[in-house]
Amino acid sequence: MGNPIEIKKNIYTVGVKDWNVRDFHGYTTSRGSTYNAYLIVDEKITLVDTVKNRFSSRLLENIAKIVDPAKIDYLISNHTEPDHSSSTPHVMAAAPGATIIATAAGKSGLERYYGGSDWKINVVKTGDTLNIGSRTLSFVATPMAHWPDSMVTYSPSDKLLFSMDIFGQHFASSGCFDDEVPYDELMREAKKYYANIIMHLGKVVKKTLPAVEQLDIDMVAPAHGLILRKHIADFVASYKDWADCKPTPKVLVIYDTMWMSTEQMAKAILEGATRPGVDARLIKLSVNDLTEIMTEVLDAGALAVGSPTLNNNILPTCAAFCAYLRGLKPTNKIGAAFGSHGWAGGGAKQVDEELEKTGIARVREPLTCVYKPDAATLEECRKLGAELADKVESYK
Ligand code: FEO
Repeated sequence: MGNPIEIKKNIYTVGVKDWNVRDFHGYTTSRGSTYNAYLIVDEKITLVDTVKNRFSSRLLENIAKIVDPAKIDYLISNHTEPDHSSSTPHVMAAAPGATIIATAAGKSGLERYYGGSDWKINVVKTGDTLNIGSRTLSFVATPMAHWPDSMVTYSPSDKLLFSMDIFGQHFASSGCFDDEVPYDELMREAKKYYANIIMHLGKVVKKTLPAVEQLDIDMVAPAHGLILRKHIADFVASYKDWADCKPTPKVLVIYDTMWMSTEQMAKAILEGATRPGVDARLIKLSVNDLTEIMTEVLDAGALAVGSPTLNNNILPTCAAFCAYLRGLKPTNKIGAAFGSHGWAGGGAKQVDEELEKTGIARVREPLTCVYKPDAATLEECRKLGAELADKVESYK
């Protein structure tokens, strides 16, 4: 169904669906995405967020189906990241009399990105309100969820929260609401989004959730994906678990290999970890997508990460994984490094250092072998897998 859609009385979706985006600053968006914007038609015409700038014409066309864009009184900028703000110049050109509402950091961000020295920007903070006629909107700053500028907007009379990136999903579909797509696909996309975008902000999420929970809401309108009206409680419960990277009985053996020696070690670790009640998985970096891998990391209990040594160094695929992992800061994981080398070594040691910097508690020194694992080394690998499984199998 195309926009606009009325989601509450006189509140419309006017954003766009980006069915074909497959790379969102490194995140593989296999189902595309949406850039959600919302138009509130009240005494004051109010637009909540914009869209990625290459869709600015579509945004204005969607608005024009409801009101003349020139009549927009307020543009609420919940978040300055360009997927939501980069059509601001187009909106302000169409509605030069509009006032932008943003946090102080949002104002600064908008001015840095777009100039806009002639724009009127009213700065708001948590607890501030804006009367637009029959509604009084209120604002809650959510710094670092996702950027320092971020805030959410609440309409009490509509029981509606405009949650910005929070509770989003990169998920283009013909649906508008969460009950119009398969539940498992919705939650998988929500988990993937959290793992790859929000995971490193767990502490912030834990601070933000209580503020959300105290609101009287029956609908959450995020800046990406489906609008929540049926599964709000599931999202809140999942975010609580994800904020802690709550570990489950899952052991991931993540590796790459040159001449199959590190792969033999990986398979022996997997063998050791395999038992009823433990989800043990073998993940070869050169044939798996980092976005999907991080989705599995989010609730894994243990990670065994292996790299052979190439030119005295970690293999590039493993280095990319470690860099991405470290940035996303998963918590509550145990792990170990492993890998083969020819003479100088170094790959497994570097993996171990990366795991330490990430905050993963290693259960042993790096497990290494020269050229090819012998029977004793493979037995050590099986023991490592079993030790990891022992430690996580009691998790629920
Ligand atoms: Fe969807 Fe942080 O932007």
